[in-house]
Amino acid sequence: MIRVKIPATSANLGAGFDCLGLAVDLYNYVDMDFCDHVVISSSDNTPVPTGKNNLIYSSAEHLFELCGKKLDGLKIIQQNNIPMTRGLGSSSACIIGGLVGANTLLGNQFSKDELVNIASEIEGHPDNTTPALHGGIVTAVLDDSKVFWVKQEVKNRLKLIAIIPDFQLSTVEARKCLPNQVSHMDARYNLSRAALFSASLLQGKFENIKVAVNDKLHQPYRMGLIKNGKEVFQKAYGLDAYGVYISGAGPTIMAMIDDDNTIFVNEMRAYLNSLGLTGWEMKELAIDNIGTTVENVK
Ligand code: HSE
Repeated sequence: MIRVKIPATSANLGAGFDCLGLAVDLYNYVDMDFCDHVVISSSDNTPVPTGKNNLIYSSAEHLFELCGKKLDGLKIIQQNNIPMTRGLGSSSACIIGGLVGANTLLGNQFSKDELVNIASEIEGHPDNTTPALHGGIVTAVLDDSKVFWVKQEVKNRLKLIAIIPDFQLSTVEARKCLPNQVSHMDARYNLSRAALFSASLLQGKFENIKVAVNDKLHQPYRMGLIKNGKEVFQKAYGLDAYGVYISGAGPTIMAMIDDDNTIFVNEMRAYLNSLGLTGWEMKELAIDNIGTTVENVK
């Protein structure tokens, strides 16, 4: 049996809608082995689909089909640490877990570059799946069904605080609220900021991040789906966050803070409680520069 370890991811990073994402040190595990029928369970009692509609299984099956092989079944044991449907790449983790697991069982028929394309085709956009596979901060552009991407390792003194609401928000729903067209002004507002984000993060110019995470393509539309979202953004900036953005399609709100900022978590917790948001969780995260790994287990 093999074990695939897949990081959570945070996509968009403000202005980089559908093209920027980074991996963080919160992991799902997928144990996988050949089996003549489908046996799917979770080791942490999270309810998961146990049939062929399970996203890990269907992604693995897709890879088998691409190799011209029929799949009768697999044994899969999931360990889910990434909160589901909260904007932290839980579906990408399933897709990457299924693809990498199947590819390993088949003797690595596909390169990591090919897996990037297959994963993005399943997910529909490359900004979670690519960093989930490769780690670091990734710029990924889907052009004519091929992903053109760059991964960069981040070595700096930033912490990411994921502020995770107690409700789910599906990406499909969160994409429905976006307009079909935007103005030239809004488009250039975003592209300048997306370009500023990666360069500033990598150069340690953290004072730029507050400007770089602003966007006009998705956050203004999605904010209405996150009750108290605006207040939490304001509070995070009041507690000296370098930047605050909606992680992926939301509803998680990500605050980037200095490693020396020791007050943020306690003060934010107290603030959330004062708003009655006692069910909202916080996770202190760091950037994962490694991405998905595989090991053999008994
Ligand atoms: N870029 C995608 C979106 C990420 O914002 O819809 C979803 O995880």
